[in-house]
Amino acid sequence: MIYSIPADRSITQVLDEAGICIPVTCEQEICGTCLTGVLEGEPDHRDSFLTTEERVTNDQFTPCCSRARSACLVLDL
Ligand code: FES
Repeated sequence: MIYSIPADRSITQVLDEAGICIPVTCEQEICGTCLTGVLEGEPDHRDSFLTTEERVTNDQFTPCCSRARSACLVLDL
C-alpha cells in the first residue's frame, strides 16, 4: 500500500488510521520506541535518538517525527 503523509500529520498517525500500528511512547523524537526499518528511500531524520552514524545508513528511522527526503519511503513493517 502507498500512503501520502500530509504535512500536519505524522507517519505513525496516518499508518495507525490505516490499521498499521507502530508502537510509540514519547512521540517527541527522543525514545526510539517507534524505530522502523527503511528498505528504500531517504529518511529526513528529525529525531534526537539515532546517532549520526546510524542516520547515514538510512536503513532505519523514527516515524513518529521523521519524514522523507525522497519522494517515497519503503518501510519494513
Ligand atoms: S515514539 Fe519516541 S522517538 Fe518515536
